[in-house]
Amino acid sequence: MTRQVLYKGLSAFSSICSMAMSTRILHISDLHFGPPFMPTVAEVLLQSVPLLNPDAIVVSGDLTQRAKRHQFESARRFFDRFADIPMLVIPGNHDVALYRIFERLFRPHALYREIIHPDLNPVLQVGNVMLVGLDSTAPRSAVSNGRLHRHQLRHCEEAFANVPEDMTRIVVAHHHFAPGHDKVLDVAMPGSRRAIDCFVEQKVEMILGGHLHRSYIGNSLDFFPGHHRERGVIIVQCGTTTSSRGKGRERDENTFNLIDAGAKTLTVTHYLYFEEAGEFAPVSKHSFPRQGQAFDPGDAGSGSTST
Ligand SMILES: [Fe+2]
Ligand SMILES: [Fe+2]
Repeated sequence: MTRQVLYKGLSAFSSICSMAMSTRILHISDLHFGPPFMPTVAEVLLQSVPLLNPDAIVVSGDLTQRAKRHQFESARRFFDRFADIPMLVIPGNHDVALYRIFERLFRPHALYREIIHPDLNPVLQVGNVMLVGLDSTAPRSAVSNGRLHRHQLRHCEEAFANVPEDMTRIVVAHHHFAPGHDKVLDVAMPGSRRAIDCFVEQKVEMILGGHLHRSYIGNSLDFFPGHHRERGVIIVQCGTTTSSRGKGRERDENTFNLIDAGAKTLTVTHYLYFEEAGEFAPVSKHSFPRQGQAFDPGDAGSGSTST
């Protein structure tokens, strides 16, 4: 794999065409710095990263438990320890003050912008993957449920407009496009169907998210057959990677996903933390043919690095 540098600014996009054959993304979520945060698990994650050797790290929201300054600063210090690995980070509903009403209404993302990143809808191109992050929080209209606005779908459209056909397009949003199983939020984010229809038009192949505190790896066609029956979008949700807030089948569990984006195949490897062994280890692997490609399971690397 070839590590590419963080690339923002779509106008100069064409200047990097030296695409790697396979790009590896570490997908973590719902870190929840604050009382639920588990420092021991976080340390193991940090030690795992060099072995996993990702080209980029995606954090799909809920960095903090209560959107407090010291919690954001802890998250910032944690991210800084990933050294030079490009990161795409988006906020979750817990990154907006819940009880500080004035702050919630009038400057809901001020601390996030100051300490984590000024852009709530960031774009990252790495290797043969184009990632677009979307802020799905709705501080003024929903306490914990998310929303995506039409201007964000247009933002996606613009970000993907000049992307080469063979590049994998991935959207990252905190809230869930697939209902949770095992009684965990059995309704998807409002407006999910409309958004997925747009993503299909934009040739998005995968959505990464969190919020449910339990993993799901499947396809939008499981829930929204729609009129794009031939492909849909792969949905990859991450449980909580470093907090005690796991739910459903991942109650008290910690997980992350490793995504290998090859030329013909997308592979998602699901990792679970084993407390006695003090390590994350792969527990399942899911391979999907890329749009318009024949299935080639050997295309995206092993995706099964044990840590
Ligand atoms: Fe969360
Ligand atoms: Fe959340």
